[in-house]
Amino acid sequence: MTFPRTRMRRLRRNASFRRMVRETRLSADNLVFPMFVRPGEGVRNPITSMPGNFQFSVDTLAEEAKGVAGCGVPAVILFGIPEHKDPRGTEAYASDAIVCRAVEAIKRAAPDLCVITDVCLCEYTDHGHCGVVTENRDGVPDVDNDATLELLIKEALAHVNAGADMVAPSDMMDGRVGAIRDALDGAGYADVPLMAYSAKYASSFYGPFREAAESPPQFGDRSSYQMDPANALEALREIALDIEEGADIVMVKPALAYLDILAAARQRFDVPLAAYHVSGEFAVVKAAAANGWIDEKRAALEILTSIRRAGASLILTYWACDAARWLAEA
Ligand code: PBG
Repeated sequence: MTFPRTRMRRLRRNASFRRMVRETRLSADNLVFPMFVRPGEGVRNPITSMPGNFQFSVDTLAEEAKGVAGCGVPAVILFGIPEHKDPRGTEAYASDAIVCRAVEAIKRAAPDLCVITDVCLCEYTDHGHCGVVTENRDGVPDVDNDATLELLIKEALAHVNAGADMVAPSDMMDGRVGAIRDALDGAGYADVPLMAYSAKYASSFYGPFREAAESPPQFGDRSSYQMDPANALEALREIALDIEEGADIVMVKPALAYLDILAAARQRFDVPLAAYHVSGEFAVVKAAAANGWIDEKRAALEILTSIRRAGASLILTYWACDAARWLAEA
């Protein structure tokens, strides 16, 4: 009998060995918590398809944000639900926009918490698309790229005027990163960083979010602006363009079905990479856990670690606060 010379199991024998040779670290520092804000007072509406998540009004949101900071999570990203929707998403860029009031309230309640705002129009338009809808060359209603840029600029400026620490355009219009960067620089906000949803796919995993943000498209889908799930090279081009246009952080979204994109982006680019573990990815684990089919905590930490391992520095996740607590217990 010849004995195996190389024994991979030697360094797996106990927890100290495993800790010493662990290659990937997950920390609360890596996490960003998405939050939804709507009009009203004292509101805390549970989002059914995303157990543990709520639509808050500005007052309850600010309280909750203090708790987020208290768990050691460094940042939140805000999504707004307006009072009224219209074709041009007017409430997205009004000076008293819901997200602007939320930013001010959070900055008062938890000054050190980094407040990122999602810049997009789908929550604010009555048709639910991410921009201004016109007819395209085929005679089909479609989002007009350049008309949308004007509105995204106004929205980003409104958020930053209100005190947002970072803006994150998620609309997938061409040229929006450069347009918003120029506008911020021109308004004296050269020091405000921009996180671009660069490789954002037209994914089935956004379903629960659209319930949370009340933003499903009323006709058609988002495939004329979000990416085709089949494409990888195109993602690298999108990321390269956003970096050229001035993105400080680039994002891949969703996360799990696109870990190859994350890993390729990590190899190719040297800017901080973010991944969005989206609502549907979260919901499938929650649903399985509710049935007793999966251990939520173990699954969550395994998933978040795998996203880190693939190359993400930052993870936007609905588990941010739970994960921060789990990591502190460990
Ligand atoms: C806005 C936006 C969406 C998400 C983040 N920003 C929805 C969409 O594009 O339809 C999805 C996030 C999630 O599913 O958790 N455009």
